[in-house]
Amino acid sequence: MRSKKYITTPIYYVNDLPHIGHAYTTIIADSAARYFRLRGYDTFFLTGTDEHGQKIEEAARKRGKSPKEYADEISAKFKELWDDFEISYDKFIRTTDPDHIKGVQKAFEIMYGKGDIYKGVYEGHYCISCEAFFPESQLIDGESCPDCGKPTSIVKEESYFFRLSKYQDRLLQLYREEEEFILPKSKKNEVIRFVEGGLQDLSITRTSFDWGVPLPDSIGDPQHVMYVWLDALLNYVTALGFGGQGELMDYWPADYHLVGKDILRFHAVYWPAFLMSLDLPMPRHIATHGWWTRNGEKMSKSKGNVVDPREVAQAYGLENFRYFLLREVPFGQDGDFSQRALIDRINSDLGNDLGNLLNRVIGMSGKYFDYRVDSSDVERYYREELEEIERIIAPLDGHVEQMRWHKFLEELWKLLSLGNRSIDRYTPWVMVREGREREAMALIALVANILAKTALLLYPVMPKSCEKIASALGFTIGQESFRRFVERGELLDEFQIERIPPLFPKIEGPLMEEKRSPAPEEKGEEFIDIDQFFKSQIKVGKIVAAEEIPKSKKLLKLRVDIGEDRPRQIVAGIKEYYTPEELVGREVCVVSNLKPAKLMGVLSEGMVLAAHDGDGLSLIGPDRPVREGTPVR
Ligand code: ME8
Ligand code: MG
Repeated sequence: MRSKKYITTPIYYVNDLPHIGHAYTTIIADSAARYFRLRGYDTFFLTGTDEHGQKIEEAARKRGKSPKEYADEISAKFKELWDDFEISYDKFIRTTDPDHIKGVQKAFEIMYGKGDIYKGVYEGHYCISCEAFFPESQLIDGESCPDCGKPTSIVKEESYFFRLSKYQDRLLQLYREEEEFILPKSKKNEVIRFVEGGLQDLSITRTSFDWGVPLPDSIGDPQHVMYVWLDALLNYVTALGFGGQGELMDYWPADYHLVGKDILRFHAVYWPAFLMSLDLPMPRHIATHGWWTRNGEKMSKSKGNVVDPREVAQAYGLENFRYFLLREVPFGQDGDFSQRALIDRINSDLGNDLGNLLNRVIGMSGKYFDYRVDSSDVERYYREELEEIERIIAPLDGHVEQMRWHKFLEELWKLLSLGNRSIDRYTPWVMVREGREREAMALIALVANILAKTALLLYPVMPKSCEKIASALGFTIGQESFRRFVERGELLDEFQIERIPPLFPKIEGPLMEEKRSPAPEEKGEEFIDIDQFFKSQIKVGKIVAAEEIPKSKKLLKLRVDIGEDRPRQIVAGIKEYYTPEELVGREVCVVSNLKPAKLMGVLSEGMVLAAHDGDGLSLIGPDRPVREGTPVR
């Protein structure tokens, strides 16, 4: 077994302040790093900031600052946030660090020396926001960026190119051979399709601005600076001393590059190709998570709906927030942030399941045994439960290896439900009444041991809370206790349980003020005139039939009577919120002149209107029955 683990986050652009999305990636990486350290791996955890490129140059100019001044300021904000959040990084790299710059230049020289870089002219489109080149054919309406939708600019300049095309076959071979190179595995096909579509050589230098790593002197082309993604991706090895002393290169290859799905292509296509050119081993996993939205919408400054992680942590507690982020959304899928969902997780998972179990054990051991807990008889009376514990714990490690934190936590919670269930089933108060003290003691000890194992396994996600639980149970969290109580299945030595105040007090309602969205003129939104609005025909219709569409998680097939000779067939993405039975007979609003379209192969002749917020989805209809076909305006 490899005894080292190397975990990275993306290095974040300094054009924006940290928000919940950045916190999400970093907290996953932090939990992973803590987990592997606890298991005894020599772990290196890297994060940092991405500071070069046209986007940063422009952001600085807008604020009347030099790029470096501006980068210093925002980079410090990221570092401060991670420090306040006690993120356990081993190194915080900045792409303006002199060692990084030297390493990037060294890499360029190696790739150039190998014949993988040549000079030419780049002509095409560039999206500054994504810092990415696109051929005309990929643009939306011949103009906008296919990734972010913003307008692109045309670039024609002398440029050095990286022979990406040369690596197409080796990349495809990599995806074929390394089943788990991309996690979750379901994301792999989109990368394969992209590469199979044909790779063009990549422009890797620019001359039209200055804020970047200059080419090495040996190339003799001082007006070129490096493309920001070449510079940025290399951070994962320059941080280990690549191009310099190489003092930490033992940690390479990375075990996990944690990234959001927005930058999967850069990490799963360009990065391995650069590494192949440098003759360096491939990273083991590109672990790709989904996107956080707010009430179903993309977060952005102009919408004023950006979630500030500091504010959430202050209101709800940092560790509760960490638990929520990892538990709420299956790794790889998108998630919507709402206070309601966060409060539910805290009150039910943390308060009811975990906190109460601890309180119950403290209460019972106090009442019957003066706070003493002795595990000597647990095996004798509760063999079955101990076996169940082993069964629950066995697959947990695999879930972390695959970054399936939601699953890890869901399965871990089975320990807690076993604990709560055992108390209800064996009723220790009856045992005591009947004079079966030893059995009662063993039961209380069984549950204390369940809590101890849970605290050890949950520690990477909620370190402080778990240290408190451990201390109440008379042990400290560390490699040694992890080995004993989790890996070897040992039981706690006799101890005095400590009374501690409830760890997860019930939250009665939202603790943060909901931000109102700004008026349209402030948002820079365009107004439409009434004629444009009346182009949409909206009518009241009655749902006369509803059924599931086989294999679709989201869609239902409806028949809606809108006063025509036959009901319309409408496919609606509401299956997660409504059952077919409860829909029949309801009145809804239907956009009736929408161009028919097929969804999952089923024809849809209109759209039903609904409102979507953090609590779910609500169909829109009249507030008293009206005739089918009545226009809405
Ligand atoms: O892309 N939901 O930096 P960046 C989930 N500098 N995650 C989100 C998110 C959201 N709404 N918004 C951001 C860059 N993220 C480059 C990376 S790496 C060599 C260079 C997270 O500041 C997510 O991890 O735009 C995403 O991949 C990353 O922030 C993008 O950060
Ligand atoms: Mg971005």
